[in-house]
Amino acid sequence: MILINPEKVPKHIAIIMDGNGRWAQKHALGRISGHRKGAEAVRRTVKACRELAIDCLTLYAFSSENWLRPDQEVRALMGLLKNFLKSEIPLLGETGISLRVIGEVSRLDKSLRTLLDQAVEATSMNREMILVLALSYGSRDEILEAVKKLSLKVRQEGLRPEEITKEIFEDNLYTAGLPEPDLIIRTSGEYRLSNFLLWQCAYSELYFTDVLWPDFSREDLLEAIADFQKRQRRFGLVNGQEMRD
Ligand code: FPP
Repeated sequence: MILINPEKVPKHIAIIMDGNGRWAQKHALGRISGHRKGAEAVRRTVKACRELAIDCLTLYAFSSENWLRPDQEVRALMGLLKNFLKSEIPLLGETGISLRVIGEVSRLDKSLRTLLDQAVEATSMNREMILVLALSYGSRDEILEAVKKLSLKVRQEGLRPEEITKEIFEDNLYTAGLPEPDLIIRTSGEYRLSNFLLWQCAYSELYFTDVLWPDFSREDLLEAIADFQKRQRRFGLVNGQEMRD
């Protein structure tokens, strides 16, 4: 049994859900079965985070690079997302979770975009937790887009380059208004960030586990949180200096 301090849970957990394909291979199943099992782990993890009073959970559900996967797999992933949205919206409502999407949403098909818009709208008043789905998301594109938006403001709206602060820059990222992740978890034994929240991860604690995403359980989440609670976060300061909240 893993004990955590409920008063000191990370406010924002972001997860790179990796290993669906390897899980399927291990069980002699097709990759899509792995993603289906992965979607069950998503439901479990959202529920667990809500119960643990996490403020914000970001899930890397589809990267900008994932478009290059075989058509059949991309279609299956989009189908799983649609099913998830259809089945989970009422539950998100009941449990006070609001949905947000980050990424190049315009690349998603129209029916998925409509479902996403409906889900975001239907849950917008919920205040207990924010569930952020990173879809068609790539951090370098996100940063580049912010640079382009700010360049236009410089050219057309009289913004002076020297006035651009960190806060103004962040207001132009997909994640505008969201807290920075305190804890980033990656499953499946890979030790990299794969173009995920590269600006926002500056002071995140990173946690890697060998568990494949479809097997990721509440206990695994608790283990990651317990590990996070042992870390000393200094945000570039020295011990004893006042730290950010
Ligand atoms: C990585 O595993 C996972 C993905 C590319 C997609 C994640 C999607 C889900 C968990 C299911 C649907 C999502 C929601 C929000 C309902 P991989 O295929 O790269 O695994 P591998 O590295 O073992 O091949």
